[in-house]
Order: sequence, then structure tokens, then C-alpha cells
Amino acid sequence: MRTSSTTTRNTPKNMSKSEEGIDAITLLTEDHENVKALFEKYEGLGDRAHASKKKLATEICTELTKHATAEEEIFYPAVRAAGKDKEDMVDEAVVEHASAKDLIAQIMEMEATEDLFDAKVKVLSELIEHHVEEEENEMFKKARDAKLDLEMLGQQIAERKAQITM
Ligand SMILES: [Fe+2]
Ligand SMILES: [Fe+2]
Repeated sequence: MRTSSTTTRNTPKNMSKSEEGIDAITLLTEDHENVKALFEKYEGLGDRAHASKKKLATEICTELTKHATAEEEIFYPAVRAAGKDKEDMVDEAVVEHASAKDLIAQIMEMEATEDLFDAKVKVLSELIEHHVEEEENEMFKKARDAKLDLEMLGQQIAERKAQITM
């Protein structure tokens, strides 16, 4: 549902217009594509582009944290509540998030000049690639089949993401 000019719904300050009235799966998939593009941009940077690497890695970590937090607080519980058969899948996703968060915390503490910086960003990208594949091919499919209220969840996810600052 798009906001018409006559509605007075409040848009949180940090929420982009494009995140209004978008269904949860579309929103989360757009986040995935956005982060994938950022990882590709990182790959393309020269070995000595330390300042750009640090900046881009921070952006990746920030975007992933917002996304994962909103998934864990809003999307995953809704999927979990849709049936016992979803539990193992959601549990695995939560464990993958924990691994990602651990790496994110390490990357945020490091300088791009340090030895393992590139390696950590690379491993994070591989972990996320695998995780996103499972979400898009399995979890999102099941969420659609379960007829979750994706518009409402999308609104909640967008609002939650807008609240998170790092
Ligand atoms: Fe996730
Ligand atoms: Fe995701």
C-alpha cells in the first residue's frame, strides 16, 4: 500500500521514501542486492586503497547489522510463528547471523592496513552469500506460502531499520 498525499502516517526521520509501503520480502531482497553490490565494490578496490576499504567495510557492516537486527526482531519471529516446521530453518539463520555479527565486530575494530582485514571482509561476504541464498530460496518461499502479512512486516522492518544507528 503506497502512502497517498492525504494520509498523515509518520515516516521516521531516517526511513527512506523507497522503504515506505514495501512488502517485507521485497525490502529484504533489496537489502541483499545492495550489500552484494557493496561487497563487489570492495573486491574492485586496489590493494592500497585503505581509506576506501575501511569506509566501505564500515558501510557493509552497518547495513548488515540493521538488516539482521530487523530480521531477528520482526521477520524471523513471524516465520517461526507460522509453524513448527519452520523452526530448524530459523534457528540455523540465527546461528549464521551470530557468526556474521562476530566477524562484523572484529572488522569494525580493525584498521584496513591490518593483515587479516581483507580476509575477514571476504569471509563475511561468503558467509552472507550462503545465508542470503537460503533465505531467498527457502525462507522467503515458506513465508509466502504461510500467507504472512508481508506489507505490515515490511513497514515494521523499515521502521526498525531506521531506528538503528552505529
Ligand atoms: Fe538474515
Ligand atoms: Fe536477509
